Amino acid sequence: MQSRFYLSLLLISSLVLLTFVAIATYSALTPEWKQYQTEYKDFLIKNAKDEATRERAEKIDIGIQQIYLTSMKKADRCTSCHRGVENPLMANAEQPHRQHSGNYLENHPVAKFGCTICHRGQGQAMNLREAHGEEHTHWDFPIMPIKYIQSSCALCHDFEMLKHEGGGHVAKGEEFFRGKGCRGCHKLNGVGGDLGKALDGIGSRARAYFPMKHVVGDRTIYNWVKQHFDDPRQIVPESEMRAFLTGEESDLLTTYVLTFTSEQMPRNYMLIKNIVMPRTDGESLYKMYCIACHSDGKASIYDEILKRTIPAIMNPSFLKAIDDNYLKKILKEGRQGTQMTAWKVDAAGLTEQEIDRIIEYIAKDRPAAKTEPFDVAKFKADVKRGEELFNIRCALCHGKKGEGDLGLNLKNPVVQAADPAFLAVTVRDGRAGTPMPPFGKDGVGLIEQDIADIVSYVKTLSQKKL
Ligand code: HEC
Ligand code: HEC
Ligand code: HEC
Ligand code: HEC
Ligand code: HEC
Ligand code: HEC
Repeated sequence: MQSRFYLSLLLISSLVLLTFVAIATYSALTPEWKQYQTEYKDFLIKNAKDEATRERAEKIDIGIQQIYLTSMKKADRCTSCHRGVENPLMANAEQPHRQHSGNYLENHPVAKFGCTICHRGQGQAMNLREAHGEEHTHWDFPIMPIKYIQSSCALCHDFEMLKHEGGGHVAKGEEFFRGKGCRGCHKLNGVGGDLGKALDGIGSRARAYFPMKHVVGDRTIYNWVKQHFDDPRQIVPESEMRAFLTGEESDLLTTYVLTFTSEQMPRNYMLIKNIVMPRTDGESLYKMYCIACHSDGKASIYDEILKRTIPAIMNPSFLKAIDDNYLKKILKEGRQGTQMTAWKVDAAGLTEQEIDRIIEYIAKDRPAAKTEPFDVAKFKADVKRGEELFNIRCALCHGKKGEGDLGLNLKNPVVQAADPAFLAVTVRDGRAGTPMPPFGKDGVGLIEQDIADIVSYVKTLSQKKL
């Protein structure tokens, strides 16, 4: 009885096993690419207009197609399935048989360029999942969504050419990047702020580099970059980067940022027609490095993410009180203890001339009327009294120790080294149009002695530990 039971069990399991072996053998002998090529061949035979064409179609070998790019040691087998890409008869066929759109393949002969140079994906793979590098295949650079594909063009062409010859999106992305102040927080080629990381090579980083947890849909670097632009804090919750792009802008910037790769194309694969150097006048530099935080410079902005005020650096009462030398010192040294980077050449990387041009731009609307001077040396200052007044009048905004909050950080080396007269004038006159009130006769009504006392105390703030 028992042995019959085991016998039938053995029989059933053998049958099951046999079925699996049969299926596996069948699909090994008829892999996807073979089926696609058979379909392609059958289509050509069926639609042949004359006998000669028919004969040629019948002679088509079914076999793995490979393009080997010697100088890059790349092997692309995409045409094993996409065999019709160069065949005009396939213009309206279903994928993967359809003829390639546009004149991309005429301009870039398949035998020289292959496919992955533009599309990414895994050239050597022979099944769809792996060739297209779908999720969970451990391939870092899956097929690029068509809307970002122009990022590839920039590996080999200049933006001036691309602007007019099929690369309008990536050229526009490059323009946005320059105008949106991304380099206020990011270095590229060694120049830029340091609140975020340098962006060099970001487009060729492995999937594992990116924190994918909050990405919606496929966890590809393309989706990461795009969704991070749409809302950085949705993807990296503690990010200090703000969302300030429209959906279309973030598509274009994604396309552009993906051009930052560590890959260097061989010379014979590049066609550079016309390199136009980006503009470096004061206004362009301001847009490149300052605008993301300071906006148009006219308003004092309390930034919820940076947790401090970004001052109105083109406010007339600020410009009236400050001279170019001190402005230059602020730009060069930045403001330690805040997000404002030091912009000098051995920090963020701006040259003296570039800094001068930015200052000229910021100060272009400085009012002609001179500020009434404040001779601080005339007063014998009382630091103790200054401290009391500071705690009553200023700490609310500038912090108990001058660390800044709604008011600016007053303990950093640049403010500490400032001309006391500049500080005194600022306290006396305030900054119209910002929360910094006037404390002199036009405001709260402190007398000059009070102000001199406060300034003498402000000058000791660097000694306070946080
Ligand atoms: C095993 C067969 C196969 C291989 C190999 C293959 N593809 Fe495909 N490809 C397909 C099929 C089938 C489609 C249409 C269905 C789809 O999009 O998944 C397609 C669609 C595409 C599309 C259009 C996708 C879209 O979003 O509309 C692109 C682009 C593409 N393939 C590029 C490539 C590149 C580049 C390679 C080489 C790395 C490659 N394919 C290798 C079968 C293949
Ligand atoms: C010079 C860059 C370049 C090369 C090389 C290239 N492609 Fe494309 N491919 C593109 C662009 C750009 C598009 C989008 C076309 C458009 O928007 O009209 C595209 C579109 C496609 C599509 C259609 C996707 C869709 O749904 O619109 C497929 C499939 C495709 N390519 C496959 C291939 C294959 C296979 C190869 C290799 C034989 C290849 N491409 C080589 C640039 C290229
Ligand atoms: C791997 C480098 C490479 C990539 C990627 C590439 N191209 Fe090209 N492209 C070339 C080279 C090199 C030529 C010159 C033809 C040749 O050498 O075979 C060329 C030719 C062209 C031409 C013809 C221009 C002329 O004056 O002959 C156009 C237009 C063009 N490319 C646009 C594009 C666009 C748009 C993309 C992105 C979709 C792109 N290319 C991607 C290298 C590249
Ligand atoms: C106020 C400063 C600030 C500005 C302006 C800013 N970023 Fe960021 N960015 C950051 C910080 C901080 C991070 C790191 C946290 C994160 O990943 O969100 C970051 C991360 C990134 C990353 C991911 C980098 C990596 O290695 O993980 C990219 C890409 C990026 N930013 C691009 C841009 C672009 C493009 C712009 C201009 C539209 C821009 N950023 C503007 C602060 C900024
Ligand atoms: C990451 C954001 C950020 C970027 C980018 C940035 N700043 Fe600032 N900046 C600040 C903050 C925050 C402060 C105030 C710091 C404090 O509390 O002392 C500041 C302060 C200043 C001040 C001092 C104003 C005053 O009232 O004394 C000047 C001048 C200035 N920035 C100019 C610039 C210029 C010019 C650029 C571009 C080259 C620039 N900043 C880029 C955030 C930024
Ligand atoms: C209501 C909040 C508030 C109060 C109270 C306040 N400040 Fe300010 N203070 C600010 C803001 C905001 C700024 C930056 C304004 C801007 O956007 O340009 C500032 C700017 C300054 C600056 C310019 C710093 C620089 O580097 O250019 C000094 C100095 C200063 N305050 C000192 C004081 C002193 C001293 C007191 C007390 C007598 C005081 N403030 C009271 C909000 C305040």
